[in-house]
Amino acid sequence: MEFKSLFSEIKVGKITVKNRIVMPALHLGYADDNGMITDRHISFYRERAKGGAGLIIVGGAYPERLGRGYLGMIGISGDEHIPGLEKLAETIKAHNCKVGVQLLHVGRYGYSRLLGEQSVSASPIPSKLTRETPRELATSEVEEVVKNYGKAAARAQKAGFDLVEVLAAGGYLPCQFLSPLTNKRKDKYGGDLEGRMTFLLEVVAAIKDHAPKLTLGVRLSGDEFMDGGIDHIEMQEVARALDRAGVEVLNITGGWHETDIPQITMHVPEGAYVYLAQGIKKSVNVPVIASNRINSPCLADRIVSRGWADLVVMGRGLIADPELPIKAQEGRVDEINTCIACNQGCLDHVFLMKPITCLVNPRAGRETEFALSPAKKKKAVVVVGGGPAGMEAARVAALRGHDVTLAEKGERLGGQFLLAASAPNKHVFLEAIRYLSVQLENLGVKVHKNTVATPDWVKELNPDVVVVATGSRPIIPAWAKDKPNVTDAWQVLSENIVPGHKTVVVGGGAVGCETALFLSRNEAISTQTGMFLMEHGVFEPKGIAREMYQYRDVILLEMEKRIGADIGLSIRWTILQELKRHGVDVRVNTKVTEIVPEGVVVQTEGGKEDTIPADTVVLAVGVEPLGEEFVESLKGIVPEVIIIGDAKQPGKAIDAIFDGLKAGSRI
Ligand SMILES: Cc1cc2nc3c(=O)[nH]c(=O)nc-3n(C[C@H](O)[C@H](O)[C@H](O)COP(=O)(O)OP(=O)(O)OC[C@H]3O[C@@H](n4cnc5c(N)ncnc54)[C@H](O)[C@@H]3O)c2cc1C
Ligand SMILES: Cc1cc2nc3c(=O)[nH]c(=O)nc-3n(C[C@H](O)[C@H](O)[C@H](O)COP(=O)(O)O)c2cc1C
Ligand code: SF4
Repeated sequence: MEFKSLFSEIKVGKITVKNRIVMPALHLGYADDNGMITDRHISFYRERAKGGAGLIIVGGAYPERLGRGYLGMIGISGDEHIPGLEKLAETIKAHNCKVGVQLLHVGRYGYSRLLGEQSVSASPIPSKLTRETPRELATSEVEEVVKNYGKAAARAQKAGFDLVEVLAAGGYLPCQFLSPLTNKRKDKYGGDLEGRMTFLLEVVAAIKDHAPKLTLGVRLSGDEFMDGGIDHIEMQEVARALDRAGVEVLNITGGWHETDIPQITMHVPEGAYVYLAQGIKKSVNVPVIASNRINSPCLADRIVSRGWADLVVMGRGLIADPELPIKAQEGRVDEINTCIACNQGCLDHVFLMKPITCLVNPRAGRETEFALSPAKKKKAVVVVGGGPAGMEAARVAALRGHDVTLAEKGERLGGQFLLAASAPNKHVFLEAIRYLSVQLENLGVKVHKNTVATPDWVKELNPDVVVVATGSRPIIPAWAKDKPNVTDAWQVLSENIVPGHKTVVVGGGAVGCETALFLSRNEAISTQTGMFLMEHGVFEPKGIAREMYQYRDVILLEMEKRIGADIGLSIRWTILQELKRHGVDVRVNTKVTEIVPEGVVVQTEGGKEDTIPADTVVLAVGVEPLGEEFVESLKGIVPEVIIIGDAKQPGKAIDAIFDGLKAGSRI
């Protein structure tokens, strides 16, 4: 595939961009406490610029102190920020990549503990995100904020940027002025849409005035997806006004942080919000950028070639694989490390105020620390276990020049990721296995499937180093041992058993929640069939949802007071929403004490005992590591043994893959 449209150049305002791939503003959390650019930014962006993106927009950067929303956010509020920004812009431009900076004022999304005072907004409307109420800006203060945007843009111009983008999406300050939900003002900045647009239009004018050499972009929510907010039709009016005001490119994303429709999780179909950009493109004369869940060059090229948008945002796609553009251009699509929209290394870290990284690419944000330079001495390495940890260790060791052999006892590589991919909406996890498998093949790793590595097998190979990545197995508590109606989540997800119609899932962690959703789904009605039946009026949306998602009676039991405690913040609410929609009966503070032929005996709050009828009881009560025994058995046989991933300490894939990177780098 050539991706001719994706790799054609385009004029955007005053600049020409070499292709249509835009790395959007991504808060990385790498700035120091004063908002200064760090070496981590430089290394991170150098790789992305080198990797072939056409335009990189850095930030969001706060244009004034009260605009700062996150720890580690870049500042552009003072002249002291210019030298760092200049170095960053230079680094990116050195690779024939255009560079922009985004101005992000959080307004009512600001946390008082970070700001040291109450946040500000158009009107004092409480925020669901921060659970705080902002202070209304006085008219003169709004005028001051407008000026600060202009001054920030002037700094961007001085620092050598090509483009400046105003973030008027996601629910941030310009949205708070635009939307009737958060703007109840009586002055010139409030009232009807025209009045509510005043702030943004004044910001645009101030930037044009202060930074006339820069190309000016605005990032808009194509639809606020908020009850009573601005929908995608009205937003086209806003876009037309911005076009008339001299904005040169519009970057169209989805709704606010407060919307209850997922925006960027794996539940969102790939390219789901392209229609928003398409609608805006019809209304304006300037180039339009489509955004959200565009994670493959095939989809990106289709969007551009069909004329749905002029450019595409590939944000997390470029966190996961900085070389995505080059690989696509060179026809090496199968080598791309695809973003699986898990948010676990990126967005979840933003909400935890931690620097971001990536589940499938733990080098993200650690580019200098893990330079992957060739090994000084070539070694014979044996990796035991072909789950994500073992595969990553093998990949990195082979990349550095070692002679690597990997044993996997199953017939497929992937370990628990194969199970994860069976959970609803997580089929994209298979992409991670595809990437690692292709890499192992290309790097000449000798992969032995259907091979249980034993100490004798290892001895035969006479390795210098063995990496033990044997993973974990489900815990079966004493009260569940040898009971005929009991199984575990792994058996269910791998479809080794057919559960009964009345099922009880024990354990409300991530795996328990996902298994409950899996069980409630009626596999006999595919999504396509559901659409077909709805189109022909056989079912209403609610009716088809019931048919498709409420197939079994599923009860989910959790002994603690909340379920999904191990699920990241950006995903947890969507899982809770789904469990509700799927009619899963969630019972917390409920501890299983015994399994009887009729079901499970539980103890609820206050020590009350009850029996819950069930045909099948599915255990999801955690896993236990499998590695120590194997390590012991290798003592005296090989000079060096490294244990990684679940085999060492059961956890998450993000830790397991990082362990693989560390092991492969240290050999
Ligand atoms: C349903 C489900 C959903 C999940 N979802 C997520 C998620 O969203 N995010 C996340 O971060 N984590 C998730 N996890 C957890 C994640 O998959 C694990 O943490 C991760 O797979 C651990 O990787 P690993 O390579 O250490 O072990 P494993 O994935 O368990 O791989 C170990 C491999 O070693 C092989 N093996 C064992 N002994 C031998 C031997 N003697 N010889 C040869 N081969 C051997 C096994 O067959 C297996 O393939 C999920 C897990 C499950 C079950
Ligand atoms: C870690 C992280 C930080 C983000 N920070 C910003 C930001 O500062 N400004 C912004 O406009 N969007 C931000 N976004 C949204 C992205 O720019 C992008 O719209 C989103 O990730 C969807 O695109 P993707 O599916 O290609 O990643 C952020 C997203 C993530 C995951
Ligand atoms: S952590 Fe997950 S969502 Fe974020 S970039 Fe990596 S794969 Fe994509």
